[in-house]
Amino acid sequence: MTQLVETIADLRAIRWQDPSLTWGLVPTMGALHEGHIALVRQARRDNDRVAVSIFVNPTQFNDPADLEKYPRNLAQDIEMLRAENVDLAWSPPVNEMYPHGFQTSVIVKELTRPLEGEHRPGHFEGVATVVAKLFNAVQPTRAYFGQKDVQQVAVIKRMVRDLNFNLDVVVHPTVREADGLALSSRNSRLSPGERTAAAVLYRALSVAKSRFDSGETDAAALRQMMTDIINDEPLSRIDYVSVAHPDTLQEFTGDVEQALLSLAVYIGEIRLIDNMVIG
Ligand code: PAF
Repeated sequence: MTQLVETIADLRAIRWQDPSLTWGLVPTMGALHEGHIALVRQARRDNDRVAVSIFVNPTQFNDPADLEKYPRNLAQDIEMLRAENVDLAWSPPVNEMYPHGFQTSVIVKELTRPLEGEHRPGHFEGVATVVAKLFNAVQPTRAYFGQKDVQQVAVIKRMVRDLNFNLDVVVHPTVREADGLALSSRNSRLSPGERTAAAVLYRALSVAKSRFDSGETDAAALRQMMTDIINDEPLSRIDYVSVAHPDTLQEFTGDVEQALLSLAVYIGEIRLIDNMVIG
């Protein structure tokens, strides 16, 4: 049976009914899709109990219009979680997470500067702060995140190490549509034409990976290759194209042995991200 709670007090009462049980937490912003469900199923395999948080975190949106348009469908989300036999669905109101006078935040330094951090100022401060709060509230044994948000994963892993959170971060591979588009709540906002165009991100990453596998190791050439493919798609506009160190996320120059390819691309008005590790 899926129990629904809003307050941290109610959440904790259920969480600590039996302290001997292991708990997996899947943090989400709702508008659930098969990518989230893959995390839930992994959490179900690994733990005695599974909790899913649903909270559209205002502090991680650097653009107020993006926050306003972010898809929300709590009733459908709860149905999906019931179908997966999730034990606890926690959807706190904003004032439960950010009570009046709130003024504390978590800042992870170097890792948040490039890529998403450069293009979405303040985003990772919002993410790190809310994830720290989710971890403190639930105190899960394990927490589950998707590889699609690769920088988010790096930031959260760093925070867990630096602040001694007593949990394991489990990363699940990106779940993709048949044409390679990475599942994302934002995909629901694409028009049919944009949806078709959105496959360009995966195409660009795949071509760069296969050219790397057949001998092209120059970072600038790989970047240019992805840029050209995306620019050929009329509905797309590049935010960034990156070939970076998979751990430090610093941009490479010259030849690479192993790298993180990552992209942020607007398809119409919708900003999508994706990534692939090569080497
Ligand atoms: O990946 C997300 O959906 C969000 O960034 C997260 C981790 C739930 C924090 O709000």
